Amino acid sequence: MKAVVIRTFGDPDGLEVVDLPVPVPAPGQVRIATEAIGVGGVDAVIRRGTLAAHGFREGHLLGSEVAGIVTAVGEGVDASWVGRRVWAFTGLSGGYAEQAVAAVQDVLALPDGLTGTDAVTLGGSGVVAHYALDRARFTPGETVLVRGAAGSIGITAIQLAARNGAGAVAVTTSSAERGARLRDLGATHTLDRSGESGPDTPAGFDIVIDVVAGPQLPLFLDKLNPNGRYVAVGVVGGQPPADFGMRLVDAFRRSWSFATFSSDTVPCPDRQAVRTSQFADAAHGDLRTVVHEVLPLDQAVLAHHEMDAGNVFGRIVLTP
Ligand SMILES: NC(=O)c1ccc[n+]([C@@H]2O[C@H](COP(=O)([O-])OP(=O)(O)OC[C@H]3O[C@@H](n4cnc5c(N)ncnc54)[C@H](OP(=O)(O)O)[C@@H]3O)[C@@H](O)[C@H]2O)c1
Repeated sequence: MKAVVIRTFGDPDGLEVVDLPVPVPAPGQVRIATEAIGVGGVDAVIRRGTLAAHGFREGHLLGSEVAGIVTAVGEGVDASWVGRRVWAFTGLSGGYAEQAVAAVQDVLALPDGLTGTDAVTLGGSGVVAHYALDRARFTPGETVLVRGAAGSIGITAIQLAARNGAGAVAVTTSSAERGARLRDLGATHTLDRSGESGPDTPAGFDIVIDVVAGPQLPLFLDKLNPNGRYVAVGVVGGQPPADFGMRLVDAFRRSWSFATFSSDTVPCPDRQAVRTSQFADAAHGDLRTVVHEVLPLDQAVLAHHEMDAGNVFGRIVLTP
């Protein structure tokens, strides 16, 4: 089968299309003939070699979420899965391929009306958006700032905050054109990447959901209202300054909270329950997914160049 591996860490040209044996599902796994493969920010981080210390090696087969048809099951898995259209989390490898394997607890049947492309745009990121707001103890009427809103986590977070009655849903973004698109999804105010905004924007926010982190994180901590909650879910802008925690301590009379959130810490059945509900909403048009572009699997290099250039609004999807 055709697959895309990291030949050399670094820029996208280090990715290579190769022929690999079709994987055999291990006990507890299913094999999926992929129709849609999500391309996420974490794939770029692995490709650059940033996570080499965590065991990622050259030769790694990228990709963590796919949709397609189950073609085989491993020992202990109900054979009725074969032939079903599913979404699956493949871990942090194995997705950029014509056939992928996944543990059956990470597989979800797709509802009618939801395309594989939409499923891989929402499947992983929607859960992060849901739990980020949950961990922030969001309640209706509160003001929310989504930092790095133009990716699939942010796009879902905007919609969830808006439909659950947020007092304001502000976003950071890099252009007026992107700001207009985010307003169309439910954002009420736009800030630039440094947090500058128009005069009508709230001076402070009850909640910040941050996909970016990076050196400017402290600027956004300062935007919290008293009792405000900051939830960091991504690092697309790199690591924050090592001493950013001092900002929290120095501002202790404002009673801020800072949390990180990873969906790895949510029990699998809970993740799947949220995903099931979001897939149903998306199938009914009640939750929008934004697909930047659909490219053939063998153009994964182009997909990664687009990501690195900052051109992607929503998510790129590969198809074999
Ligand atoms: N917590 C979890 O469980 C979990 C799960 C999966 C992934 N993740 C993490 O989530 C992140 C990817 O999320 P995503 O796919 O939604 O994001 P994304 O599409 O990679 O990026 C979102 C937006 O951030 C803005 N941005 C990019 N670089 C920036 C910078 N240097 N400074 C300021 N803004 C910048 C860009 O928008 P503008 O150009 O409009 O500013 C971009 O469209 C990764 O860090 C990944 O590791 C976390």
